[in-house]
Amino acid sequence: MRIFFTGGSGKAGHHVAPSLAAAGHQVTNADLTPLGHPDVTDLRVDLTDAGETYSALAGVPTMDDFDDPDLDLTRGSVYDAVVHFAAVPRVLLAPDSATYATNVLAHYNVLEAATRLGIRKIVFASSETTYGVCFGQGERKPLYVPVDEEHPVVPEDSYAMSKVAGEVTAASFHARTGADIYGLRINNVIEPEEYAELFPPFLQDPSLRRRNLFAYIDTRDLAQLTLRCLETDGLGFEIFNVANADMSVAATTEEIIERFYPDVEVRREMGRDETFYCIDKARDLLGYRPQHSWRDVLPDPRREA
Ligand SMILES: NC(=O)c1ccc[n+]([C@@H]2O[C@H](COP(=O)([O-])OP(=O)(O)OC[C@H]3O[C@@H](n4cnc5c(N)ncnc54)[C@H](O)[C@@H]3O)[C@@H](O)[C@H]2O)c1
Repeated sequence: MRIFFTGGSGKAGHHVAPSLAAAGHQVTNADLTPLGHPDVTDLRVDLTDAGETYSALAGVPTMDDFDDPDLDLTRGSVYDAVVHFAAVPRVLLAPDSATYATNVLAHYNVLEAATRLGIRKIVFASSETTYGVCFGQGERKPLYVPVDEEHPVVPEDSYAMSKVAGEVTAASFHARTGADIYGLRINNVIEPEEYAELFPPFLQDPSLRRRNLFAYIDTRDLAQLTLRCLETDGLGFEIFNVANADMSVAATTEEIIERFYPDVEVRREMGRDETFYCIDKARDLLGYRPQHSWRDVLPDPRREA
């Protein structure tokens, strides 16, 4: 596939975009700053500018394409799919109004240009924050666990509001065009090299992970799920939680429920270390099988004792 990847220079994108290239796809990274990866073509695009976004999606994807005698740029885009990760990725990086405006406008521009130019598969980054726990004022708890995609999304912060708006916009573009549009409610992104530094405090004190529902997502598993989205056609508009299979803490699910969720409805029996951020839907519809865990890198302090 020819993939138009936005935000490929960022924390998540700089792992996921090269992974898609390694899987045999041609990847063009549309970002404000270059990635500089040998297998990915960089294109400097400001996605809040509709003209730039249209032009980028309508253009030649890579240098090699100048040698393709069959490339026809007169009939819309030659890209097969869009993966849209570019965004201001949380609160407190920019004023709230700027975070909301950047994310909503860039997302709208990408979806409008992609669908108008005939692209039938779009995968976009939404967020765990839509459930309202992550950046809620004070302690917010889920209504029930494990938290699945049916859980209400009524966040209080501008970043998560922009992501909820993005999901609603995506549903509308699907209704208008019938394109497959899959939104990923990504949990806290962890790069493989971050385990050794970030996780020891988490393993000592699970309260540090309360706002993430004790979950996390390894960039390699995020890449697997993104690839599964690109390879799975015909689902229409769908939202998927994205997390690893276990928790980012050393306590068991039973201990977490007792300490943090004593009044929260537990909807089904859960595994000893199972994530509260339900990934059953991605397993069922996409064949997602997370492969990685902090336990591959660090000893579990509770189990070793
Ligand atoms: N990092 C996380 O833990 C996390 C969790 C949930 C969801 N997400 C979402 O995943 C996506 C990727 O997050 P990340 O952590 O890699 O963020 P990041 O900030 O590291 O990367 C985002 C990229 O988007 C680019 N970008 C921003 N505005 C742009 C614009 N107007 N035009 C073109 N490019 C622009 C930036 O230059 C950057 O390279 C985001 O949509 C974010 O909201 C991230």
